[in-house]
Amino acid sequence: MKIVHVASEVFPYVKTGGLADAVGALASTLAERGHEVSVFLPGYRKALEHPAARGSERRLRLRIEMGDRFASCDVLALPVAPRLTVYFIGREEFFDRQGIYGNGERDYEDNDNRFICFAKAVAETLRLLDLKADIVHAHDWPTGLIPLFLRYAERRHGVMLALRTVFTIHNIAFQGVFPMKSFPRTNLPEELMGIDGLEYYGQMSFMKGGLLFADHLTTVSPQYAREIQTAEFGCGLDGVTQSRAADLVGLVNGIDTAVWNPATDPVLAARYSADDLGGKAACRADLLRRLGLDPAFPGPIFGMVARLTEQKGISLVLANRRFFESSPVALVVLGSGEARFEAGLRDLVAAMAGRASLATRLDEEMSHIVEAGADFFLMPSLFEPCGLNQMYSQAYGTVPLVSRVGGLVDTVIDLADDPANGTGIMVRPTAAGLAEGLERAVALHRNPSALQAVQRRGMRRDFSWRQAAQGYERLYQDAL
Ligand code: ADP
Ligand code: GLC
Repeated sequence: MKIVHVASEVFPYVKTGGLADAVGALASTLAERGHEVSVFLPGYRKALEHPAARGSERRLRLRIEMGDRFASCDVLALPVAPRLTVYFIGREEFFDRQGIYGNGERDYEDNDNRFICFAKAVAETLRLLDLKADIVHAHDWPTGLIPLFLRYAERRHGVMLALRTVFTIHNIAFQGVFPMKSFPRTNLPEELMGIDGLEYYGQMSFMKGGLLFADHLTTVSPQYAREIQTAEFGCGLDGVTQSRAADLVGLVNGIDTAVWNPATDPVLAARYSADDLGGKAACRADLLRRLGLDPAFPGPIFGMVARLTEQKGISLVLANRRFFESSPVALVVLGSGEARFEAGLRDLVAAMAGRASLATRLDEEMSHIVEAGADFFLMPSLFEPCGLNQMYSQAYGTVPLVSRVGGLVDTVIDLADDPANGTGIMVRPTAAGLAEGLERAVALHRNPSALQAVQRRGMRRDFSWRQAAQGYERLYQDAL
């Protein structure tokens, strides 16, 4: 099949979260499996400067209609692997900036224009390069208008650009909602301004465009597919997801097992596997040493790698301050995000004198070191479409302590529910729920043979993209 992926971030060129990992790995797995794959992303400064983007060459110059003005864009092409080409849509005015979505404090004010222009440029490139896509697969709100732009370009030029469109919801909490005065820059017909179109409480929603107008919808776990049809998790779009329930499926992401494998991971102090867990102790000591903590600390180490936002349940961790202060446990956090959570965690770390550490930077290498060195991985998310870290941690023999929501339900087996097969600890997403989970972890840590059995079971699970990509292949084939 000829498959086109469109996303606002793709690993390794640019990443703010799991979206980049998921799209990067899915695209390359599909190419390895014999499909012809193109990937489109904006030509951000960071992406074009990334060593992996070296060798990109200008293929096209586009003139994109934006309301009653025109914007010119460059299309850079990068052949990455057999059957895999990455296209960067360049326009300095929109993408030659420090940030991706904003400046760290606030989203950029022209994100509507930036992603309208990007999406239109993708449609125009498909037309001019005559890519003849079987499937155009768009991800999350920045690409929500793609299905519409494709269909209107087809009508206007009398060509076929995509046989079928697929839209994947990675996180329904981010919707791309902008004032209706942005609408004219889409050059879409006015009837789409209404409630059966992009209108969302008087504004326009990019995500709603994807939800209503893509031929098929997916999200990143079966449990989240159900949740987003409820008022509790639908973030105001539950009516829309319900109306498309027949076309919506949940497919769990995979992990890149070439990058996330403790038996081969080059950044670890020692390598280990399910058959020989020996090296994990060296990784544990290495983690503590690097952070200036006592390398022989005997209690359980709780690790966390996350964007510090409400979603990730940081408030639940802070609410359990007394546990962390008074129990013989260590806490290691790698993550940046909202100032209030950074400040709260900094406070907690100070109160745990010598047993805790917080690093507020993006650090790929360190994320591997935390995954390998911790005993438990803490992920008490309030909602979690899929989540990748709970899979990384199982692969690394680090027992996930997660809340019972979204993709966490589909990827972790709770020890209490199923003692013979359990791979982790699941809790209610409340402060009290987490408190119980922390006690369960401490108890498990006191029983080394039980702990090892749980670690081994997690390490033996197959979370590879090979598995996950087959689900998408079936979906594409059925769609066609
Ligand atoms: P989300 O996409 O909601 O942030 P996921 O669990 O799907 O959650 O993916 C998060 C990804 O971002 C993981 O690959 C995780 O390791 C990575 N990550 C988050 N924060 C950091 C950080 N500070 N340093 C390095 N990697 C990070
Ligand atoms: C989003 C979600 C996360 C998911 C990722 C990749 O960022 O928050 O749960 O794993 O997308 O699909």
